[in-house]
Amino acid sequence: METSTFDPTRGEIGDLDSIQRSEKKLRDWFFREKRDLPFRRNRTPYSTWVSEVMLQQTRVAAMIPIYEAFLKRFPTPSDLAHAEEEEVLQYWKGLGYYSRAKNLQKGMRKLVQEFDGVFPRTLESALSLPGIGPYTGRAVLSISYNLPFAVLDGNAKRVLSRFFLFRGNISKSDSILQEIADRFLDRKHAGDHNEAVMELGARICLPARPLCAQCPLSQDCRAFREGAQNEIPVPEKKAREIPLGMRFLIVRAPEGILLLRYSERRFFKTIFSLPFDWEGDSPYDPDPNIDLGIEFSNTGSEFKHTITHHKIRGSIWESVLGSDEARRLEERLLREKKEFGVEWKWCSWADLENGFPSSVAKKIRRALSVSEGELPGISRGKNLSKNRREE
Ligand code: ADE
Repeated sequence: METSTFDPTRGEIGDLDSIQRSEKKLRDWFFREKRDLPFRRNRTPYSTWVSEVMLQQTRVAAMIPIYEAFLKRFPTPSDLAHAEEEEVLQYWKGLGYYSRAKNLQKGMRKLVQEFDGVFPRTLESALSLPGIGPYTGRAVLSISYNLPFAVLDGNAKRVLSRFFLFRGNISKSDSILQEIADRFLDRKHAGDHNEAVMELGARICLPARPLCAQCPLSQDCRAFREGAQNEIPVPEKKAREIPLGMRFLIVRAPEGILLLRYSERRFFKTIFSLPFDWEGDSPYDPDPNIDLGIEFSNTGSEFKHTITHHKIRGSIWESVLGSDEARRLEERLLREKKEFGVEWKWCSWADLENGFPSSVAKKIRRALSVSEGELPGISRGKNLSKNRREE
């Protein structure tokens, strides 16, 4: 039997007996209690890859219908690899963080081209695929191939730091926590073990008021034994909230509503969006100024939106162009394309939420709540001030 070693910065590494006892209890609990989730029914590397990427930053309940529709439309790596990116983004709607979808598709293209569509069996090769990081790589290899890799997501970090009484900052201790996770891994049942740890974190070992009385690991949990479960993980200082003002610009031409995409900007780097600029104070350097050379009128409609720790007050501005003006605008955009790689397209008002796949589009449509015919006829009875767009 191995003796336990204790280092307060690294957590208490338990003796092997208690670890093995706990692994077994955790596995039994998982088989009894696990949720019947669609992505657990078929554990191909592809379905696991898709589901694990979707689950990053999205709750299970929100992701299920999107996951099911996505797999129905793109049932194999090849279907996803050969799809138009725009369509993939449409199917990603509701999940946000669209760069995940783009990287997933890039990864699938490499998988099809260089691995014949077969997910590799080593972590090194898995990590060579775009969109596969340490978490996703380990999740796919363990869940779909039952290879002995331990995963670390937020839930797993919380479970492990309590179980082993790790008092360090969990967001800055990945290598130590990975050692702890590797040590706790049930190597014969790696996939079930990993899912069980995450499931326990999601349902029992909750961030606040964990349900220790129902926890299969309480007998050997160091935090529970010391009554320290509410102090661990040590809370992080919250990122300071940053208030920002953004003006969203509706340019309506006979071709439709203008959408832009360029990567040299702080938000919506990877998707088409309505043009926007900043209003009021900002702690950031301004985005490159895409000069549309158009006058905008303030609709007077506003909405609130949050992007990470940015609290955004969005105002909505609009401008109607005739066909000559629209052509001049396209000529200008061609010049911007050379300088900043700006891409543009025209989209109908009714299709705004597909063309600009962000909940901001929905908020803007709701804030204006007008149909295409009225847009932006500025006929909503509001006093609208004419303002030159600040350049
Ligand atoms: N969180 C992320 N992936 C998960 C999974 N496969 N099971 C439970 N919780 C998870």
